[in-house]
Amino acid sequence: MAKGSGTSTADASSVVSQRNLGVLISGRGSNLQALIDTIATGELDARIAVVISNKADAAGLDRARAAGIETLTISHRDYGVRADFDRAIASALLERGVNLVCLAGFMRLIGTPILEAFPNAILNIHPSLLPAFPGVDAQAQAIAYGVKVSGVSVHLVTGELDGGPIVLQAAVAVKDDDTAETLSARILVEEHRIYPEAVKIILSRRWMLDARRFVRLPGPP
Ligand code: GRF
Repeated sequence: MAKGSGTSTADASSVVSQRNLGVLISGRGSNLQALIDTIATGELDARIAVVISNKADAAGLDRARAAGIETLTISHRDYGVRADFDRAIASALLERGVNLVCLAGFMRLIGTPILEAFPNAILNIHPSLLPAFPGVDAQAQAIAYGVKVSGVSVHLVTGELDGGPIVLQAAVAVKDDDTAETLSARILVEEHRIYPEAVKIILSRRWMLDARRFVRLPGPP
């Protein structure tokens, strides 16, 4: 993994060679739905091999079942040691031939066992223009700070919370009368548009990392 300063690069072709996605969720699953729908229309050439939730009552599990996708609940509460929870998730993904992991509202930190199993092959979507407002309640953070523009970022996952190389971003204007809810709703529209797009870019393998910069290589979209 290209990390820190310097000119080291990582060749994407050695990382993602097939098109099997594993999606990790904790709740509503609207971004999961966007991926399901974009695959169904043929715009995204991929297959969701499994959806894993750390919560048995996550609404996103019903979305996956409705689409005929295998679901698993792996609860962090069943593991005394965090690394064991991470290993269970990594094993479940590897056993199903997953090449690219998509975090879609997964509310647990991604630990070393998952990072090592999927180097440069884990994506996350975060509802702010990173590096602004990492962590929880990003939309409320943006309102409280008073920024006039916020948005959404899709990034590769590293050991740093919401800190990996940025694949795509979309900006959303913040209105004076916005609440966290109204801003979230407008950001969500952009989330559903750019997450499938970012997955497509990763699977195209036409990209490289230059230190922490995600750089797209020429070629068809
Ligand atoms: C989204 O706002 C996403 O950016 C953040 O968590 C939320 C998940 O929503 N990481 P959903 O479960 O995909 O509807």
